[in-house]
Amino acid sequence: MTTVHDSPTAAGSGANASSNFKDRARDTADVSPERVSTVVTAVLHGVHAAIRDNQVTYPEFQAAKAWLMAVGEGGEWPLFMDVFVEHVVEEVAASSQRGTLGTIEGPYYLPSQVQLNADCELPHREDEKGTPLVLRGQVRDLDGTPLAGAEVDIWHADADGYYSGFAPGVPDGNLRGVVTTDADGNFSIRTVQPAPYQIPTDGPTGKLIEAAGWHPWRPAHLHIMVRADGHRTITTQLYFAGGDWLDSDVAEATKPDLILDPVDDGTGVREATYDFELEGN
Ligand code: DHB
Ligand code: FE
Repeated sequence: MTTVHDSPTAAGSGANASSNFKDRARDTADVSPERVSTVVTAVLHGVHAAIRDNQVTYPEFQAAKAWLMAVGEGGEWPLFMDVFVEHVVEEVAASSQRGTLGTIEGPYYLPSQVQLNADCELPHREDEKGTPLVLRGQVRDLDGTPLAGAEVDIWHADADGYYSGFAPGVPDGNLRGVVTTDADGNFSIRTVQPAPYQIPTDGPTGKLIEAAGWHPWRPAHLHIMVRADGHRTITTQLYFAGGDWLDSDVAEATKPDLILDPVDDGTGVREATYDFELEGN
């Protein structure tokens, strides 16, 4: 097992994913006033009910206000939203999606990464730590037709649990790439086994987790987005059998169908296969 840092700092983990998120600006203009009123009223009612049901005091209310300000000032809203809220939005989206299961995107996706051939190795440092890992698979339509030229956009943390583009010291583009499937829809990606991910303990989200007596861990995972013309994009993650935190992911984003069980090929390389099935548009 690789060693994981005990207490990554907010800056070290790259908690501030705000500017990346804003660059990929989401358009909210098409949300009607009725919809805004309905959803925001429901959210506020939930908060009001929590206050009444728990007899929340003025000092607790002021502490909550101070904490909310710290989340903003620390750039942790993307992190907080993706850990504690996104899995339910994904659950709603998944209810109308067939094919390979999705799960949360998380705050560390970056578009426009290096384009790679179907049989490839992800960009990595010369001395990249971690057990070599090969992920193979096929991208198919729901009826089994292989999808040539599909894109398998993959990104993951390194063997210390850090993401390139967010953690200082990890080169841009490290352990990220957009892989195009071959004529048979197949791909084979060589990389290294990521470590579990820990919410930075020194930022406001980490402070909340500590104050509540929860743990700050996500199980080790690969993030994958699969795109093919005429098909609905899948955003998902793959996990590792036997890994820590699989049953208590702080982001509640694991699903049994998404767990790989890599096998050592006899030379110290762990190999796993996963096929993706995409629903037509
Ligand atoms: C967070 C980080 C992740 O790597 C992930 O997959 C989901 C959420 C987060 O810190 O919010
Ligand atoms: Fe992640």
